[in-house]
Amino acid sequence: MNNEMLKQAWEKRDGAVVLTTVDSDGMPNSIYATCVGLSSDNRIVIADNYFYKTKQNIEAKSKVTVLFITLEGKSYQVKGEMEYHSSGEMFTWMKSWNPTKHPGHGALVINATHLYSGKEKLS
Ligand SMILES: Cc1cc2nc3c(=O)[nH]c(=O)nc-3n(C[C@H](O)[C@H](O)[C@H](O)COP(=O)(O)O)c2cc1C
Repeated sequence: MNNEMLKQAWEKRDGAVVLTTVDSDGMPNSIYATCVGLSSDNRIVIADNYFYKTKQNIEAKSKVTVLFITLEGKSYQVKGEMEYHSSGEMFTWMKSWNPTKHPGHGALVINATHLYSGKEKLS
């Protein structure tokens, strides 16, 4: 995985990302998320403020994708493995930028394994 490519794309990100998970029958579920960050080791972190079905899918060990678009109108899709942190370093970091009006129940941490732009596999 080319983390530098992800970092450069992420820095130009425009607006909400789309987080997609699947349930144990393979039914996908997509949500918008704006309380997001890229950690210093290039992991995508999404604040769990209002996850419901998403949380169920996480607990069912879902696969995950994150879709976003840049200010230039280029789209990126990240596929990866995820972890859910209710405490610890990533949780504390999420709390440092998640607006306090939101509950910040947990931090979804996504280790990117593949990066696409449209049909093109970048990494
Ligand atoms: C623009 C926008 C941004 C959102 N950002 C977040 C977010 O950063 N974190 C979060 O937990 N929910 C966020 N939500 C709410 C989720 O999109 C979604 O409604 C929630 O996870 C419940 O859906 P689910 O049952 O499919 O998980 C946002 C909603 C909108 C419309």
